[in-house]
Amino acid sequence: MADGIDFDVFVIGAGPGGYECAIRAAQLGFKTAAADPWKDADGKAAPGGTCTNVGCIPSKAMLASSLAYESAGETFRELGINVGPASFDLDVIQARRAKVVRKSNDGILWLFKKNGVEFFPESAHFLPGGKPGAWKIGLSDGTEITAANVVVAAGSVPRLLPGVTPDEKTILTSTGGLEQTSVPKRLGIIGAGVIGLEIGAVWQRLGAEVTMLEALPGFLGIADEEISRAALQVYKKTGFTFHFGCRVESVEKRADGVVVRYRTGDEEKEAVFDRLMVSIGRVPALQSVNPEAVGLKADARGFVEVDEGCRTNLPGVYAIGDLVRGPMLAHKASDEGVAVAEEIAGEHPVINHRLVPSVIYTHPEIAWVGLTEAEARNEGYTAKAGKAFFSANGRARAQGQTDGFVKIVADAENDRVLGIHILGSEAGELIAAASFILATEATCEDVALTTIAHPTFAEAIREAALTVLGRPMNS
Ligand code: NAI
Repeated sequence: MADGIDFDVFVIGAGPGGYECAIRAAQLGFKTAAADPWKDADGKAAPGGTCTNVGCIPSKAMLASSLAYESAGETFRELGINVGPASFDLDVIQARRAKVVRKSNDGILWLFKKNGVEFFPESAHFLPGGKPGAWKIGLSDGTEITAANVVVAAGSVPRLLPGVTPDEKTILTSTGGLEQTSVPKRLGIIGAGVIGLEIGAVWQRLGAEVTMLEALPGFLGIADEEISRAALQVYKKTGFTFHFGCRVESVEKRADGVVVRYRTGDEEKEAVFDRLMVSIGRVPALQSVNPEAVGLKADARGFVEVDEGCRTNLPGVYAIGDLVRGPMLAHKASDEGVAVAEEIAGEHPVINHRLVPSVIYTHPEIAWVGLTEAEARNEGYTAKAGKAFFSANGRARAQGQTDGFVKIVADAENDRVLGIHILGSEAGELIAAASFILATEATCEDVALTTIAHPTFAEAIREAALTVLGRPMNS
């Protein structure tokens, strides 16, 4: 390391992108540091970013508790189990959520130690005066650091509705949405996207009446159309109320609740909720990094401009995760973090952004990887599709989890699998097998020739491939 350089690699932000980047860089022999100011309720350093602290992990903890409660009703009775009326203790559920999160925070701190990453529980920003090979970083405790390479992994924050300020008590972002200490009777959710569905599911299972106000005319446009359509039916059956094509005009706190005035077409409407969550997407959190100090280029929406290798306009400065183009997903950020560390080491990592899987952890789950049928057609493929329903799958029937199906989209010319889309209780786990199928550029015949254990939900993947090939076995 050259004179006057404190670190070979300095990572700003220790979310899934930043912490994996720092660990990989240290493994590759670089003197590495990471900084992140996140603290838990006791003031202890809490690396892991949005995903660990207020996103993926705590939402899964809440979904697990609420699903167990819901299952203790009809699902248990169907399985022949009588437990009497179930009840829940929200304080215990919330304490468990916090404990699950803390375990993950501590795990990351331990991994930093094990791999020799120096961790600063501070926010970090660019200082003026740096140059390629010697960037200057300031920490919130006043420390100044010089680093040869900087990886900006500062993540994102909830997008707010203009004029609506969340107090996290009655008007919530996803953070407050997870941390409520009582169940709202009427929960309104603006934005029927991934967060709205997951957090909505938690409170709906615990007894809330959940109403979604969605701007777009249709449901879940990012998923395959057949999956979205089927999922909407299941969610409606579960008890969610959806209103599409809503233009929210005002949100007002009144004694009787939060009043939302909105327009659908020419109609003016009003709804009153006890609590309202706004989940209309997230925006990059770049400002705290002080990009102007070094002239780090971002687009009009605040995303740092990067090439396919996450290189910014500044030599030796990289940006990854929610701050840059592509889906705002933890696993995409982690892959970029690892790839950047390897790039700095002179390796040539490749990320296939077309194969980033998506999962929505409702019940049943929705998961997909690769192209939807519409995307395949738009890309010029002669696409054909095959479906296998879980109602025809022995394991799904034995488990009492028969909602949903697997859909495979394939290239009609050569049967190569282009996309796999799953609605079903195990979709989030099954999608890993789907990722391998796409990563190896397998054909439907390859999938059909693979022996899959019986009885498993995964058999539906092969059955869908057989359906594409025109020779379904069990449907
Ligand atoms: P999202 O993009 O999934 O959904 C936002 C929804 O709000 C969209 O349907 C959009 O049409 C709607 N919307 C936008 N403006 C609106 C308005 N003014 N009025 C009404 N509706 C409006 O974003 P979400 O749910 O906030 O999640 C943010 C990010 O976090 C996403 O990128 C998501 O992928 C990620 N995330 C991923 C999870 C997972 O992988 N399981 C879980 C939770 C979040």
